[in-house]
Amino acid sequence: MDEAKQDISVLLTEKRVFTPKPEFVEQTNVKKWMDKFGIKDYDELLEKSKNLDWFWGEAAKELVEWYKPYDKVLDWNPPWVKWFPGAQYNIVHDALDKHVKTAKKDKIAYIFEGEPGDIKKWTYGELYTEVNKLANALKSFGIKKGDRVGIYLPMLVELPIAMLACAKIGAVHSVVFSGFSSTALSDRLIDCEAKVVITCDHFYRRGKKVALKKQADEAVTKAPTVKNVIVYKRTGDDVAWTEGRDHWWHEITKEQSAECETEVLDANDLLYILYTSGTTGKPKGILHSHGGYAVGTSLTLKWVFDLKDDDIWWCAADIGWVTGHSYIVYAPLILGTTSIIYEGAPAFPEAERWWSMIEKHKVSVLYTSPTAIRAHMRFGEEHTKKANLSSLRILGSVGEPINPEAWMWYHKHIGKENGPIMDTWWQTETGHFCISPLPITPLKPGSATKPFPGITAAVYNEQGEAVTNAGGNLVMLTPWPGMLRGLYKDEQRYKDVYWSRFKDTYLAGDVTRKDENGYFWIQGRSDDVLNVAGHRIGNSEVESALVSHPNVAEAAVIGKPHELKGESLAAFVVLNQGVEPSEELRKELRNHVGEEIGKIARPDEIGFVNDVPKTRSGKIMRRVIRAKAIGKEVGDTSTLANPEAVEEIGNAK
Ligand code: WTA
Repeated sequence: MDEAKQDISVLLTEKRVFTPKPEFVEQTNVKKWMDKFGIKDYDELLEKSKNLDWFWGEAAKELVEWYKPYDKVLDWNPPWVKWFPGAQYNIVHDALDKHVKTAKKDKIAYIFEGEPGDIKKWTYGELYTEVNKLANALKSFGIKKGDRVGIYLPMLVELPIAMLACAKIGAVHSVVFSGFSSTALSDRLIDCEAKVVITCDHFYRRGKKVALKKQADEAVTKAPTVKNVIVYKRTGDDVAWTEGRDHWWHEITKEQSAECETEVLDANDLLYILYTSGTTGKPKGILHSHGGYAVGTSLTLKWVFDLKDDDIWWCAADIGWVTGHSYIVYAPLILGTTSIIYEGAPAFPEAERWWSMIEKHKVSVLYTSPTAIRAHMRFGEEHTKKANLSSLRILGSVGEPINPEAWMWYHKHIGKENGPIMDTWWQTETGHFCISPLPITPLKPGSATKPFPGITAAVYNEQGEAVTNAGGNLVMLTPWPGMLRGLYKDEQRYKDVYWSRFKDTYLAGDVTRKDENGYFWIQGRSDDVLNVAGHRIGNSEVESALVSHPNVAEAAVIGKPHELKGESLAAFVVLNQGVEPSEELRKELRNHVGEEIGKIARPDEIGFVNDVPKTRSGKIMRRVIRAKAIGKEVGDTSTLANPEAVEEIGNAK
């Protein structure tokens, strides 16, 4: 096979460019910063920021307060990094302590809306007090610096409170997404040897009550290191109780002092462990620490979403994922922002729930996922017209490649063609945005555009050569402040997974193309790459082409072993409401993909289904779909949001 063919074929090209308006650019945070340093344009900013010591040092000056200054900005001994070594620090100082000494004390930190419609607003001062009380309660259980605390809470303000209470005393939190099963929880509690678990009785989801404490109980009985369970009362429904081990949050915090000294840590001490799935084996415990993470998350948020003092920020992810850790908890608090926390399901009780919340709370910046956008597209744009969305000024997307069709819909029906869409590429491992537009960047729908200043990314072919306009491996050539600090108790796996392919270079595991203007087009995980007749094709490209057809709501594409072609393409397609499957439509879709990408990418089979299996963070589980479609063992489906969709694959029409 010749070399050109070995490169991942890039067949889909998007030509539209959206250039930001000069008056918009003029008022942005990043432009003000550029003016301060006499930097005239975006290219010069990217060039100057290659001096990492200067760039991240200036960022730190602007955003964080050390207890003791650092000796140097960066200590890079691949694959190990120390940011701001020598500094004494605690992220809670910047997230809370510094604000309560200023007028920010009375500013709203969180607007909470429960699924039943209950609303509660929390000021920075109130948050500070509650964090201190819980931190003192944790201390009373003997929790100290370095101890691990498992947190299993839904989207309630008590979740950030619990995280901050841990960080305040130097304990390491490990949040487990509340949609995970008790088995997933116990695996993680056992792995990190948690001493305490913080959970709640029940919470509201799609009009029902989810019995979270019950699941936590099942997990805790299997995790012998857990000695105490703290239970926040959300619904007040009955729960089973183990005397001596279980404690009501409101009871143990009632008598605690409203002040708690913040533990003075090393800037490189651990802040949290967050488990993320690998393709095989047990989940990886990604490690993040205080100092670099604080600088990286807060600068990226301040610049990419251009947050100003009067913005109302809604990152509609779950705090159980890294998106929520970085951009609902730490970065917005460091910036002193007002954020939304919503407990419930996106379209409950009706499709316009989100849109009416945006109107009610005057949300100015919305950050969500392509899956959510496509779901709303499927409900129909008439729902978006039922609310006044004029408060929105910037939109964002994360988690998977956004197909240009969804990008345009989001731009038109939510953004009202006014205000940019920030397609941010990053990972649990990276801690913060790494490839992302700034509000000054000309946008191309479907591209996450360019690396953030101070971040060096490239696309390498299998030989480790940088390639343009050919698919390859997304890599990072220099460390960045929010970079993971390893995998919990698994140094070897850290080296193997991320650092063994190319010397001293971080392998992200995503197939990507860099175009002639230096724009990055993320095509999906490298394990999702197909090889059809010698052409490697990103599944997401074919999916994107299918979804661009007016009758298609969602699509998953997998490769099936094929004698001649290596792999043949099979697509599972969810049609828009009211559209009937037919032979005609099947042909039409094949031709449509042929037109959009090329004949080579036309699926050999198209099956119509009502849903495709997804993880709880909305990622299509192609591995599961593939196993089911080729009649292999599907394996554990307990981490799927919709396990019933696996059967659908078997019965596709
Ligand atoms: C994918 C979520 C395309 C990618 C923050 C990455 C994206 C994985 C984008 C990390 C994007 C994330 N465009 N793909 N804007 N953002 N991804 O750890 O495959 O849950 O490697 O972090 O999501 O997922 P994770």
